[in-house]
Amino acid sequence: MNYRLLVNKTNGLSKDFIPEELVDTKSEYKEGILINEEVLNAFRKLQNDAKVFTYNFDIESGYRSYDYQEKIYNSLVKEKGFNYALRSVAKPGYSEHQTGLAIDVCVYKDGKSYIEHDIEEFPETKWLHSNCHKYGFILRYPKEKEEITGYMYEPWHLRYIGDIAPYIYNNDLTLEEYLESK
Ligand code: DAL
Ligand code: ZN
Repeated sequence: MNYRLLVNKTNGLSKDFIPEELVDTKSEYKEGILINEEVLNAFRKLQNDAKVFTYNFDIESGYRSYDYQEKIYNSLVKEKGFNYALRSVAKPGYSEHQTGLAIDVCVYKDGKSYIEHDIEEFPETKWLHSNCHKYGFILRYPKEKEEITGYMYEPWHLRYIGDIAPYIYNNDLTLEEYLESK
């Protein structure tokens, strides 16, 4: 697996692209969420280290097939309109969830699970953003980078990128900017 694979609005995947090395995350949030095995191992380390601070993370979305992404995209267009959908969900074939390298993180606290914008102000999320690079992850759609990434701020969406994550974090780059500079 190429852990530096770029998938965005202009770099797509074929309809039948299914990554190898997918494993079950055993997520508490939902059954049957799959991701790349190395990504899961990295997430497990992050998840365990966070417990020291009583922060409880899990994965609410991982690998998404072309067809599943199509369903998500169509239902968001229906619910919120085309312009909103364009900024927040990838068209089928253009989501990095199809690579098995992206995860949407949820937070458990007080016996409840919180996802997406609801985790934005949590101390857990602040910790996640400042530490995920130590485990090979980057925040893929940061605030104020929409013009580059093509998507609104997503505090929950992490992308596994491996050993270059600290460099990307320390230089405040997006994956696009990093790859462009190489
Ligand atoms: N929400 C991200 C951009 C996706 O749909 O892949
Ligand atoms: Zn996501």
